[in-house]
Amino acid sequence: MTGHALPMTVPAPDLPSRVRIYEVGARDGLQNEKLAVPTEVKADFIRKLAEAGLTTIEATSFVHPKWVPQLADAEALFPLVKDLPGVSLPVLVPNDRGLDRALALGARNIAVFASATESFAKANLNRTLDESLAVFEPVVRRAKDDGVHVRGYVSMCFGDPWEGAVPLRQVVRVCKALRDMGCDELSLGDTIGVATPGHVRELLSLLDEEGVPADVIGVHFHDTYGQALANTYAALQHGVTTIDSSAGGLGGCPYARSATGNLATEDLVWMLHGLGIETGVDLDRLTATSVWMAAHLDRPSPSRTVRALSHKDQ
Ligand code: HMG
Ligand code: MG
Repeated sequence: MTGHALPMTVPAPDLPSRVRIYEVGARDGLQNEKLAVPTEVKADFIRKLAEAGLTTIEATSFVHPKWVPQLADAEALFPLVKDLPGVSLPVLVPNDRGLDRALALGARNIAVFASATESFAKANLNRTLDESLAVFEPVVRRAKDDGVHVRGYVSMCFGDPWEGAVPLRQVVRVCKALRDMGCDELSLGDTIGVATPGHVRELLSLLDEEGVPADVIGVHFHDTYGQALANTYAALQHGVTTIDSSAGGLGGCPYARSATGNLATEDLVWMLHGLGIETGVDLDRLTATSVWMAAHLDRPSPSRTVRALSHKDQ
């Protein structure tokens, strides 16, 4: 890669001046890969993401190894990266057993993952929605008692492949339940990428009215229908400053076939830097990392920005 293609910076009024990018490439990005990615490659991926300036990097999941075989090496991986300076490394935890495994390795940031719908709670966690919330309750309490930071994901906030439209009130109920348990932040998942900006605005407004403000909310858009950046812009306008994305646009969910990759971090950074919003990310280094990872996975990155920056001399 040569040169430094950068967007022209033209700030928009009333947008945040800084955004925290919550990088999910090593977890959401890889969890659906069929061929096992060697543990050392995952560790290098996380190190390179940190060198590119990302400071929140979701590392892996302490779930049942049979449910997500790609992340079965969590015990081997986490110690390789846990002491990266200035980086927090959240890990997914589905239950008490997962929390035990994470705490034993010194994890200080965990994420529980709930669903706004019954169908996905069943498919992803083998529990009804209320059963899964009952499982999370003692996990969150124990983590908080230990001073661990807890994120609560809510999947299928904007649509569900089995149930179709998801009532906003249902999403709000699960968000409030997770906040009441003690989750420090929430992440609103558009697991199958069907959201559009008006829908995002409406959900965020309702959450605000119901006492869940923008400063505890992250947004997690998959890019199935190419709406992730537009949805992100709507969330920024609402005051959201935590945006989930995956380097190179890797991703998918093994328990929702219609889920494709997350919003690509490079596409996000291009837009944010163009808007004059600080991210701390070095776009050239990040793009080089995604090109490196794409070579390991033996297929090109779906990110438009990665493609443009890595082919710009041709
Ligand atoms: P289950 O089969 O109901 O588990 O699975 P169980 O509680 O009945 O236990 C069965 C056995 O599993 C027991 O062993 C447990 O010890 C063991 P046995 O006594 O039979 O020998 N076990 C575990 N082993 C290791 N680690 C654990 C663990 N828990 C139980 N943590 C379970 C329930 C939750 C475990 C399973 O459904 C699971 O692992 N699900 C994870 C699915 C997943 O990781 N999905 C992807 C992440 S979510 C996502 O991608 C969406 C997101 O990106 C946001 C968005 O896009 O919307 C976050
Ligand atoms: Mg996801």
